[in-house]
Amino acid sequence: KVPFILDTDTAQDDCVAILFGLLDERADLRAITMVAGNVGFERQIKNAQMTLNAAGKLGAVPIHVGCSQPMLREWVSAEDVHGDGTGGLSIDFTTTHVEDEHAVDALLRITAAQPGEVSVVAIGPLTNIATAVVKDRNFVKNVKSLYIMGGSNNGRGNTISAAEFNFYVDPEAAQIVFTAGFEDIHVVTWDPITLRDATITRAEYNALADKDTTLAKFFKKVCDTTLDFNESVGVDGSTHPDSMTVATLLHPELILSENRYRVDIETGSELTRGYSAMAWEKFPLPANAYVVEEADKKAFFARLDALLALETTPNQ
Ligand code: BDR
Ligand code: CA
Repeated sequence: KVPFILDTDTAQDDCVAILFGLLDERADLRAITMVAGNVGFERQIKNAQMTLNAAGKLGAVPIHVGCSQPMLREWVSAEDVHGDGTGGLSIDFTTTHVEDEHAVDALLRITAAQPGEVSVVAIGPLTNIATAVVKDRNFVKNVKSLYIMGGSNNGRGNTISAAEFNFYVDPEAAQIVFTAGFEDIHVVTWDPITLRDATITRAEYNALADKDTTLAKFFKKVCDTTLDFNESVGVDGSTHPDSMTVATLLHPELILSENRYRVDIETGSELTRGYSAMAWEKFPLPANAYVVEEADKKAFFARLDALLALETTPNQ
């Protein structure tokens, strides 16, 4: 099993990523930490709770509330893309299952308890991760591997032309993380990985969701809004960057190719704010991350299909 913490701004595919964390046979999810990103902070917490509930795992994995705004910038939402992130789903929980301990302290504590053994998957802006670095430098050595969803290595952004959402929202945090000295960072990009290897056409999507399980119905509910948005801007299908990122940690064979790069995030310019400069290792710069160059779309799709076929009993 793979022990890890999932740092998330829960909406749409973050929910699917959490499902992998809860239900994949290789996953040993120690905690869910929440960071400001996609939609309103309270709604994100509710989205995470509703995801655990759909899996019948409410209370099984602790949820820790983290930084509710970026380090220096005003929070930018992606509600135009995701709506409320779960298609209007609403459950009033009798117990919240949210821990008192702050997400940053949970990240520090869990990784320090078993140095070099617990990985972190960051699928939102990097505010919690950067704050953990700033609060206790030992964090950098204590984390086994850091998997990051963010940036582009092919020119195309999704928030401004130059930048992908997670790095755009908190570019300073992203730059702190990439220059902190983590030994094993893996980056799953928006372009090309998400757009080419983790985008499911509407026909594939309908086939996936056409199952009589709680999870398939939940999947459709949380992903419909984003699929409609994607098609309105010329992206042909439902995008799954966050679940692909978790899946690559759990099943490394999904990564068909990755290379060492020097990654830096633009913080100075407004025009290119959050741009990920990825310099090939042959350039005379110290490489600091593996950037995934190709992922196995077919194998990922099969895993998603198997995940949504699982029978679960919601807690509430
Ligand atoms: C990333 O931004 C968010 O909208 C998604 O959850 C994903 O983590 C894609 O740019
Ligand atoms: Ca996300």
